[in-house]
Amino acid sequence: MPIPLDVLEKVFEPYWRPVTSVPGGGLGLGLYICKQIVEAHGGTLEASSSVADGTCFTARFPFGQ
Ligand SMILES: Nc1ncnc2c1ncn2[C@@H]1O[C@H](COP(=O)(O)OP(=O)(O)O)[C@@H](O)[C@H]1O
Ligand SMILES: [Mg+2]
Repeated sequence: MPIPLDVLEKVFEPYWRPVTSVPGGGLGLGLYICKQIVEAHGGTLEASSSVADGTCFTARFPFGQ
């Protein structure tokens, strides 16, 4: 199932999990930490999600620094 558009940016917030998340389902830190690492390298981390293409996380890094 695709991630709703209004939720798509929230997944990068620390400790954010959906209200439907079950106990033990995760801390909600994985994507926050990923984004911190990518941005520390001067890059960007974006999420897209649709029925047609599924959920995709794209990390971009500056070239030749
Ligand atoms: N590939 C994915 N597809 C759908 N939802 C996802 C995906 N990755 C993360 N999420 C949503 O974002 C929330 C936070 O993810 P994440 O930061 O990785 O937390 P955790 O450290 O608990 O895995 C998850 O609880 C889930 O709702
Ligand atoms: Mg995770």
